[in-house]
Amino acid sequence: MPEFHGRSAVVTGGAHGIGAAIAQTLVKSGLRVVVADLLDAEGTATAESIGPTALFRHLDVTDESGWRQVLDDAEANFGPLAVLVNNAGIVDFGRIESESPAMFRHVVDVNLFGAWLGMHLAARRLRANGDGVIVNISSTAGLVGYSGIAGYVASKWGLRGLTKAAALELGDAGIRVCSVHPGPIHTPMTAGFDASIASGQPLPRFGEPEEVAAMVGFIVTDATFSTGSEFVIDGGATAGMTLVAPAQAHGTW
Ligand SMILES: NC(=O)c1ccc[n+]([C@@H]2O[C@H](COP(=O)([O-])OP(=O)(O)OC[C@H]3O[C@@H](n4cnc5c(N)ncnc54)[C@H](O)[C@@H]3O)[C@@H](O)[C@H]2O)c1
Repeated sequence: MPEFHGRSAVVTGGAHGIGAAIAQTLVKSGLRVVVADLLDAEGTATAESIGPTALFRHLDVTDESGWRQVLDDAEANFGPLAVLVNNAGIVDFGRIESESPAMFRHVVDVNLFGAWLGMHLAARRLRANGDGVIVNISSTAGLVGYSGIAGYVASKWGLRGLTKAAALELGDAGIRVCSVHPGPIHTPMTAGFDASIASGQPLPRFGEPEEVAAMVGFIVTDATFSTGSEFVIDGGATAGMTLVAPAQAHGTW
C-alpha cells in the first residue's frame, strides 16, 4: 500500500456531491486534502466539516493560473502532492441540432480541458515527488452514448482516452492514472432526474456519493497494479441488455 501520510491531495469539484465524499474518504487514508471548487461557501463548509486535514481553495478548472495557485497551496500547507482527483464536471442538455456551440464548447472545456490542465501541471510535481495517483471521474457516458447530452458524452469519452494516454506516459514515474465511470448517483447534479432512469439496471437504484468515493479510495490505496484502467460503478447499467424471449422459444432459452 502506498504511504501517503504527510502528503497532499487535490479534489476538484469538491464542494458537494461526489467530490465532497471523495475528499472525506481520502482524509481517512492519511492524505491531507485541498477541496477546490467554484462554490466558495459550500466548499469552505465542506472543508471545515472534514477538519484541519482539509482546506478549501477557489478554483475554476479551466484557469491555468488558478491551478498553479491551488497546487502551490496544497504542497505548502499539506506536503508533497500525492493524489489528484479530477472530479469537477458539468452537464449540458440539448440535442445535436439545438444545443448552442457555446454550451458544447463550455462542457468540453470544463470536463476535458480542465482535467487535462490539472494533469499537465500536477504530473511534473508527482514525478518530482517520486510517485502518485491521478483519478479522473468520467461516467458511463464515457463508455456508451446517451441522447440529449452530446457534449457531456464527448467530454467523458475524451477523459477516458486522456486517462489511458497519461497512464502510458507517466507509468515510468510511478504515477498511476485511472478513470471512474459512475452511473446515476444521488447528487445536486441529478437532483432533477427521474428515478425511473435507474429502473432497467440490474441494481435498480441510484448510487450514493460515498459508494463512488469508496471506489476512488480503493484505486488510490489498494489498486497498486492498476493504471490506464476503467473502474465502473453503475449498478450494472452498462452490463448489457436483458433479452426477453419470444413466447414460442420458452424452454429453449
Ligand atoms: N451524479 C451522477 O450521476 C454522475 C454520474 C456519472 C459521473 N458523474 C461525474 O461525477 C463528477 C461529480 O458529479 P456530481 O454529481 O457530484 O456533480 P455536482 O454538480 O453535484 O458537483 C460538481 C461540482 O463541480 C463543480 N464545478 C463545476 N464546474 C467547475 C469548474 N469550472 N471549476 C471547478 N469546479 C467546478 C461544481 O461547483 C460542483 O461543486 C462530475 O464530473 C460528473 O460528471 C456524476
